[in-house]
Amino acid sequence: MTVNSATINSLEFSRHGDKEHSAFFEENLVRLLEERDKLGLTDLIHEIDALMISVDPEHSIKYIAELALMTPYHYLVTLESEQHWTHILRIDLDSPDILLREVKDPNLRGVFRSLNEIYPVGAKKPNSRYMGEIIRVDDLHSVVKLQQQREFRFFSQDEVRKLELPGNLAVSKPSPYTHNIVVYLEREPQEARVYALGVSVIRADAQAAYLEAKTLQNKLGVADLLLPLDHLATRVYSQNREVAILEYLSWSSYYFWGAYNIKDQNSSTNVTKSAHAIPESKSPAKVFTANNTPYFINHLEKLPSPTETFVRNYEPRLHHMAISVKDGEHKGKENIDFVVNAIAENGKGFLLDVIGSKEQGLKQIFSNASEHSSLIIEYVQRYGSFDGFFTQENVAKLT
Ligand SMILES: [Fe+2]
Repeated sequence: MTVNSATINSLEFSRHGDKEHSAFFEENLVRLLEERDKLGLTDLIHEIDALMISVDPEHSIKYIAELALMTPYHYLVTLESEQHWTHILRIDLDSPDILLREVKDPNLRGVFRSLNEIYPVGAKKPNSRYMGEIIRVDDLHSVVKLQQQREFRFFSQDEVRKLELPGNLAVSKPSPYTHNIVVYLEREPQEARVYALGVSVIRADAQAAYLEAKTLQNKLGVADLLLPLDHLATRVYSQNREVAILEYLSWSSYYFWGAYNIKDQNSSTNVTKSAHAIPESKSPAKVFTANNTPYFINHLEKLPSPTETFVRNYEPRLHHMAISVKDGEHKGKENIDFVVNAIAENGKGFLLDVIGSKEQGLKQIFSNASEHSSLIIEYVQRYGSFDGFFTQENVAKLT
């Protein structure tokens, strides 16, 4: 395999936060990123091109309506295959698509469903799960070969076809730590995004639900205030925090930005970001949250355990997608307050109130979990040049 001369140094970024890591983590973070750069993988692997979300039968059209109201996403087209509807949602080509996949038959069994089924809450919506990200690469063949040489595993092309995933993608086996897949799509930046799957149709019911929600979003005056994704937050078991981060860095071209210890919630928030010089709107940060201690210690230590409890109930999985809110004010309110009020008045609930302040650098809020995907939408408004993802005080409240 040819070794490219790397142009990105994934270890040159300054570290944030106060969370302490093991010697294993620190040592292998350096080894893995040095190797990734040297092999040329950091240069070959680019931004997150799409998110893949699966829902149970009869849920995708309602979820399109929910996302069309709460986010900047538009309904584009549906790819119909034998066992799935796969809707393509898009903002533009400078931010990731969403591939929203509905299983047609409630009795369909499969590898992704089986990941939900041993978790008490996850099993109630067996097909409702965040599947993972599609990442744009320069040279699919070389990237797959290099990753296979590092012992990373992919579904075969025949398995990809049987799973009814687009045939032009290389699809990893689910992570043992996050249960997510990583998918590679070869595309030049100026080329169209192509998902080679089934037959393209504009579904009349999807289009109607989308237009109704988008009309309402415009009427409420929030459409211009909502920006693309800021970050994606995955919750993992306590003991898998460090390995989940190292594994994701090995699959992607992200670097380790840093981690904050949220002591009073017995949890930490760990942030990775693209090593390419691109904004989060083009490739959202990936955040990993984990309890500091495993669940069976907490009763002895008398510690809270919200993150571990979530994982034990749902499975390790994506907890929320954060949408950026434009910095500024609208009709006498800060934009995030205006957005949350308008959307709450139209039946979408939120957990707690908007927290944070201009002085602290950002304001944030979580929506209730979607009844379709189980995912939460976070709204985040940053003030001026604040480049953090949270204030410690906010994370404690949100956790
Ligand atoms: Fe978040």
